Amino acid sequence: MMVELANRVLSLTPSSTLAITAKAKALKQQGVDVIGLGAGEPDFNTPEHILEAAAKSMNEGYTKYTPSGGLPALKQAIINKFVADQGLSYQTNEIMVATGAKHALYTLFQVIVNNGDEVIIPIPYWVSYPEQVKLAGGIPVYVEGAEQNHFKITPEQLAKAITKRTKAVIINSPSNPTGVLYTEDELKQLGEVCLKANILIISDEIYEKLVYDGSKHTSIAQLSPELKEQTIIINGVSKSHSMTGWRIGYAAGNKKIIEAMTNLASHSTSNPTTTAQYAAIAAYNGPQAPVEEMRQAFEDRLTIIYDKLIAIPGFTCVKPQGAFYLYPNVKAAATMTGYDTVDEFATALLDEAKVAVIPGSGFGTPDNIRLSYATSLDQLEKAVSRIRDFVEERSQD
Ligand SMILES: Cc1ncc(COP(=O)(O)O)c(C=O)c1O
Repeated sequence: MMVELANRVLSLTPSSTLAITAKAKALKQQGVDVIGLGAGEPDFNTPEHILEAAAKSMNEGYTKYTPSGGLPALKQAIINKFVADQGLSYQTNEIMVATGAKHALYTLFQVIVNNGDEVIIPIPYWVSYPEQVKLAGGIPVYVEGAEQNHFKITPEQLAKAITKRTKAVIINSPSNPTGVLYTEDELKQLGEVCLKANILIISDEIYEKLVYDGSKHTSIAQLSPELKEQTIIINGVSKSHSMTGWRIGYAAGNKKIIEAMTNLASHSTSNPTTTAQYAAIAAYNGPQAPVEEMRQAFEDRLTIIYDKLIAIPGFTCVKPQGAFYLYPNVKAAATMTGYDTVDEFATALLDEAKVAVIPGSGFGTPDNIRLSYATSLDQLEKAVSRIRDFVEERSQD
């Protein structure tokens, strides 16, 4: 039987991150020694006390449905975290727990975007934003953060992109793929534009805990009560507590939006997996030392690898202050080695240097590649020297 697919999925593009990762995996299975720098998840185990709390909840019989927007105890743990980390005060009806931050974002777009509404997405962007906006009937409006401005958009650019149909703007700080962090002052200026135009701010803070070099993460919602009211914060335990597979994320903000999201989830997921919610309670209520240990390990790797990366001929790189990605501009290296595009250069890195990186075209900037340092230092050093050898050998031809 031939089934016609619904129009809404016809233009869906599969995640570019997954395509190269799949190819790298296939090569590995054939016995090829490929180093994968595509990972979007920490390479650490979920901390032991979290595993124990999850097992305990199962053994005690907590394996049934929960309220759609999350267990009251988890919402309370999230509320306490907001107070402790960011001085933000939310009520229970301003929090919705979802099946990962990705699902929180998906649900948010479903409840705020009407057909033809516009959502402003800074370039480079996380691959799921445009697809999720389109799935909700919305139109992504792209604003390019110039590389010279560390990939950050300016208030002037934002103001220019706003129309009568603009519903929201996404701010992702620290950013995937660039690792760049907006300063308090920059956020204040962007916030003023949003308040003036009365558009919602979607602040994706999933990498909040992963900041380096003494940098401080600021949420735009912390800057004034008006900005808090105008902002939906998205966060979760995936990156902070190395819990990507548990699928727990959340949204915090305006109670009318949160209520609509909760109602929608009640007809799709019912609730995030109960055991994972108990694990997330332990993540927030338990010791935070493992979070700092993982952050420090990432920082140590960044410090070593960044200098080696920018020493490769034809590579330049804005120094990231957060997340676990490097996002070098490699256009010059691609040209030097005889490739017209960075996409082709990235394919050659996999096929010949045996290093898997993600081409920047999937994030909206075709001259860059994304390298994840969520892998051991040993592997990272090996990968960077393979890339360097490849570029040097090819440039001499
Ligand atoms: C910027 C950004 N937002 C959200 C997510 C989703 O995280 P999760 O659904 O695992 O909570 C990711 C994951 O890669 C991300 O990079």
